[in-house]
Formats: sequence, structure tokens, C-alpha cells
Amino acid sequence: MRTRRSQNIIGYPGSNQYREMVSRYPFQHLKIAAVLDRLHDAAKADKWKLARRAPRFLWFFLNPRETDNRLMHVLFHDVYIPVSRQQGALLYLIVRAINARRVVEFGSSFGISTIYLTTAVMDNMQSNPGTFGQVIGSELEPQKHAVATQNLEVAGLSDIAKILLGDAMERFQTVEAPVDLVLLDGWKELYLPVVKLLKPKLRPGAVVMSDNIFTFKRALRPFLEYMQSGKNGFVSSTLRISDGFEFSVFKGPGE
Ligand SMILES: C[S@@+](CC[C@H](N)C(=O)[O-])C[C@H]1O[C@@H](n2cnc3c(N)ncnc32)[C@H](O)[C@@H]1O
Repeated sequence: MRTRRSQNIIGYPGSNQYREMVSRYPFQHLKIAAVLDRLHDAAKADKWKLARRAPRFLWFFLNPRETDNRLMHVLFHDVYIPVSRQQGALLYLIVRAINARRVVEFGSSFGISTIYLTTAVMDNMQSNPGTFGQVIGSELEPQKHAVATQNLEVAGLSDIAKILLGDAMERFQTVEAPVDLVLLDGWKELYLPVVKLLKPKLRPGAVVMSDNIFTFKRALRPFLEYMQSGKNGFVSSTLRISDGFEFSVFKGPGE
């Protein structure tokens, strides 16, 4: 029950007083929150850009396996298609919960998800001064890569995060172990190859989060079977958050 006293403290949900008092992010870093607000606002323009490309987008949507690189470039070279704030908050909280030190991200776009992940790694490092932390992102599109790198700098996170330019399948060959968390958010046919590539580097208890499970149900079926069968070292379930967020935990190489 909401008491008069608690109303005085935070106001009604939706009221100005409530908005001022309650952070929309699960962390208290004003500069980072301002960068995320700006980027999430800019990402709202995605729907208009994609609407103008509707016929091609429809073709892509109906043939999710037809991910020819030229079509993907035309459709998506300048759109954010980011994780939602809710997914970002969840990513932040998971990285904190498992005390992740090394995080790998497949598909960084303009860096929104990278910022959530890196903020959490930074906060883990601040809880244990002197400890190591690293976020390795990846982005195919040179322009997105340049802007994402700049966004990390503005957020004050570029000492911890580096976004690799090029195909993640090539760039991740040299990722070192142990990896504590992987975010899969690039083109869908590579979720399974990327997870197989990184699996030898995962520490027992590592988390793999994978976006867009609902939209790309068909294209992601082999990936989901691999993660959910219980035969490949993972336990896994799809969370009904945003467009479906697969939450997988690596049990360990022997399991
Ligand atoms: C859905 S967006 C990522 C959104 C980002 N995670 C966020 O929340 O802000 C997917 C991105 O993955 C990139 N991508 C797709 N395939 C890739 C690959 N093989 N290597 C690196 N980046 C890739 C695309 O260029 C695109 O910018």
C-alpha cells in the first residue's frame, strides 16, 4: 500500500517528482545516463529509416537466411537497432551479479549495449580496486564503429572497452580466456558460429545473452536447439523481454 509518507518521498509513478527521484538506469552515473538518453532518443528515428526501406526490409524479414552483406549494408548501415533500456538494465545487473571481468559483444552498432556492459564492468572494478576489466565489442560498419568508439569516449569508458572493426568471426580469434559474459546481437546466422568460437574461452558459470529470439525464430532455430538441448554445456531459456532475450549459462566444458 502506498502511504502518504512514501508519496512525499518519491511521488506517484509518472509524476515529475517521481521522475526526478528515480533513476531510469540501475546505476548512478549522470554523464553515462546522459549519453544513453541521447543515443536511445536518436535510435527512435530507426523506424522511419526502415519504413522508407520497407520493400527491401520485407524481403529480408521474410527470408531471414538471405543475409547477403550488400543488402544488410543497405538496410542497416545507419540504424541503431539497439537493446531496449530494460535489456540494458538487465545486462548491467547480470554483469554485476556474476562479477564479470571480461565481456565480449557480437554486434556493437553505435555502442548503446556496449555502454551498459562497460558501465557494469567499471563498477565491478571500482568495487575491487586494482582489478582487471575488459569489454571487447565488434562492428562491421566502419562509420558505426567510429561513432561507437567516440560515444564510449564521451561516456568516459574507452579505457575499458574497445570495439573491434570487421567481422567478429575473424576479430574474435585472439580473444583471451576467461570470458565471463557474451552478448550476441549481430546478424543472426552467426550466433551459433560465434558461440562455438568463444565456447573454449568461457569460464564455468559464464552467461551468454542473445537478442531478437522472437523476430528471427526461424533463422535462430539451430542456435536455440544447440543452447537449449542440454547436450552442449549450456542451460538456457528465452526471457519475454523486448524481442525475446535468450539467457544461457555455461555449465563447464565437462558437462
Ligand atoms: C542489432 S545491431 C547491434 C545493436 C547493439 N548491440 C546495441 O544494442 O546498440 C547489429 C550490429 O551488428 C553488426 N554486425 C553484424 N554482423 C557482424 C559481424 N559479422 N561482425 C561484426 N559486426 C557485425 C551490424 O553491422 C550491426 O550494426
